[in-house]
Amino acid sequence: MRAIIIGATSGIGEEMARQMLAEGWHVGITGRRIDRLESLAGAHPGKVEVQRMDVTDPEAAEAGLADLITRMGGVDTIVLSSGVGKFNKALDTLPEVETIDVNVIGFTHLALAAMRYFLGQGAGHLVIISSIASRRGDRAAPAYNASKAYQARYAEGLRKYAVRKGSNITVTDVQPGYVDTAIVQGKVPWLQPVDKAVRQILSGMKARRSRIVVTRRWRYVAWVIERMPERLWHRL
Ligand SMILES: NC(=O)c1ccc[n+]([C@@H]2O[C@H](COP(=O)([O-])OP(=O)(O)OC[C@H]3O[C@@H](n4cnc5c(N)ncnc54)[C@H](OP(=O)(O)O)[C@@H]3O)[C@@H](O)[C@H]2O)c1
Repeated sequence: MRAIIIGATSGIGEEMARQMLAEGWHVGITGRRIDRLESLAGAHPGKVEVQRMDVTDPEAAEAGLADLITRMGGVDTIVLSSGVGKFNKALDTLPEVETIDVNVIGFTHLALAAMRYFLGQGAGHLVIISSIASRRGDRAAPAYNASKAYQARYAEGLRKYAVRKGSNITVTDVQPGYVDTAIVQGKVPWLQPVDKAVRQILSGMKARRSRIVVTRRWRYVAWVIERMPERLWHRL
């Protein structure tokens, strides 16, 4: 069992690496904060491959992914967890564009590189961490919600591509509600512990589900916000 996690220096990606290592996986981990990657690798000798990666440099990121796959002798699973979200109530342009660079442009390069690799070997599991933010537009970070809607739809498109190719590739769209990691800066309600969210993600991945919403309580919230009339949504 070999997996690469893009964006494993903190939060959901790091916790996925830790839980997968505990289950006996060999993992490849990436991110810009190389010290954090090396510290995790040092605690698990022979089980972790490290790759420094900035997804806003997409050509270098694709080359880094290819190198990591080679060093690991091939992989079965690639998780795309890298992402940014910037609270932007002033509607400045820069935070929106930075979000698009990571969550849309960088994401697309890596999703396609992963997909082409799996198509080449005829099988694999691509796991995309989008968000329940994909379900509605919001005022606090408009580009974040829009980028997550893009990722969720992109996952759906890649899944259809894989099915029509007759390949044995699973594309899973993971939609977390609020999880207690750096990205939310403790500024949102109903924060769920990251270890609990990741346990539920790994369980859904084992079942090869198309879509996983975590944690369970957020499934109900997602259902409600998706159907909420606009006049109510605007009051939140
Ligand atoms: N926490 C939540 O409530 C929540 C809810 C729904 C969805 N999500 C999604 O879950 C994913 C993981 O976020 P998190 O909650 O675990 O937050 P986090 O702790 O801030 O993790 C973000 C990860 O993305 C990486 N990243 C950011 N910019 C990057 C870049 N330019 N190049 C490469 N890697 C980059 C970071 O690594 P470096 O900074 O070291 O590069 C880090 O590993 C994100 O896609 C996020 O949108 C989170």
